[in-house]
Amino acid sequence: MTHRSTFVVVANRLPVDEVVTDGVREWRRSPGGLVTALHPVLQARRGTWVGWAGGTGPAPDPFELEGIRLHPVPLSDEDLERYYEGQSNTTIWPLYHDAVETPAYRRRWRDSYRTVNARFADAAAEVAAEGATVWVQDYQLQLVPAMLRERRPDLRIGFFLHIPFPPIELFMQMPLRAEILRGLLGADLVGFQQRLAAQNFVRLSRHLLGLRYVGQTIEVDGRQVKSGAFPISIDVKEMEELANDPAVQARAKQIRQELGDPKTVILGVDRLDYTKGIEQRLKAFRELLVDGELSVPDAVMVQVATPSRERVEHYQTLRVKVEREVGRINGEYGRVGVPAVHYLHQSYSRSELAALYVAADVMMVTPLRDGMNLVAKEYVAARGDRGGALVLSEFAGAATELKQAFLCNPHDPDGVKDALRRAVTVDDVEARRRMRVMQRHLRNHDVGRWAQSFLTELGAAWSP
Ligand code: ADP
Ligand code: F6P
Repeated sequence: MTHRSTFVVVANRLPVDEVVTDGVREWRRSPGGLVTALHPVLQARRGTWVGWAGGTGPAPDPFELEGIRLHPVPLSDEDLERYYEGQSNTTIWPLYHDAVETPAYRRRWRDSYRTVNARFADAAAEVAAEGATVWVQDYQLQLVPAMLRERRPDLRIGFFLHIPFPPIELFMQMPLRAEILRGLLGADLVGFQQRLAAQNFVRLSRHLLGLRYVGQTIEVDGRQVKSGAFPISIDVKEMEELANDPAVQARAKQIRQELGDPKTVILGVDRLDYTKGIEQRLKAFRELLVDGELSVPDAVMVQVATPSRERVEHYQTLRVKVEREVGRINGEYGRVGVPAVHYLHQSYSRSELAALYVAADVMMVTPLRDGMNLVAKEYVAARGDRGGALVLSEFAGAATELKQAFLCNPHDPDGVKDALRRAVTVDDVEARRRMRVMQRHLRNHDVGRWAQSFLTELGAAWSP
């Protein structure tokens, strides 16, 4: 018999990775901030997380790990191609990120998105106890709130969008526009990263469906749907502790040595995604080398570009462009044994990432558009009293909070260059002052507070 939970999270991915050690397959909890924040609530309420376990074909049976019940939802090869790579990551992802790449629209992707969203809604309806709170996450599952309400009107349903929500004129391009909007309006509370996104949402409800709203609350079929901004954050304490761990500190020193003990280490850490502005930051670095304002080996750049969505065409094209640019910079400015850009197309452990943050004098976070950008927050949390400078795009959600960063417009090459120049040359006292202000902000706004404020607004009892 299915165990029913009073608290259910529904997300495209389950927060676990399958690892094989000495031929034995086992599940490990993945390190994301969301699962860390929700873990105590999930654990105390024997909560269930509904999501895809990775891979295609039949899903593993539901199982329990560290006090959380995991309920896998299967995806077929066709679902992966149409729902995940197609509708989610070739239609919605680019459209919601200001169409920085052209979104594509296909009927078969939309059909698959509907089918898979219904499958997630069925799974959530099956595991939720009477009157339970169900929290649906992100753009892959925007139809789930309404589908779930239809199946289970007794539930309290929250939805949080981790990525930006576009202005009306962009959203209106989407053939599935009314269905998606109605899907979201199935929730009792719809949360966004930014105030502007929540405003886009309420205005769109009036524009597209003629709904009335007062403040951020929309009236739908006699129900009140609340919306608002809940900027997500990280587990600040975890990152601070990791960065202060002697082994991580030693590794950071070793990284600097391996880089040839440069005066300035410039770092980028992103999924290899066209929204992240990786090309723009490489260009700024190259131009400062051309101008002679930076030189190798005094300054080197490390760009970690995590493999992501590798079968999607936009991502394949981006990889070619980024790797060509890295090759060009290294060809012109590297030396034997000393590349100008160390390019790493790999995933790393949390401790290796923390060591990179500790090792970096300047962190470049230059997305063309980003819902939040947790890397920027992780860098700030990892710095402690070591100073360092964050170059941050105005188009990242994080810029609303991290105002002491060196802010730039990634669409303006001179602006990025200028911010990088100022970050490289900032004096130590000023760098520490900026970092301290940002750290103080983060300590008061960590991911626990984010989850708490969303669930409190949803009217779900927060305390486990
Ligand atoms: P997005 O959600 O678009 O990928 P964020 O910056 O908000 O962007 O979050 C990315 C998360 O992935 C961060 O927690 C970061 O530490 C992690 N991450 C990024 N690159 C790597 C990598 N190469 N290996 C492991 N984790 C990574
Ligand atoms: O934050 C956006 C997001 O798409 C998350 O929903 C997702 O977990 C993460 O980025 C990584 O993307 P993907 O699940 O497509 O590998």
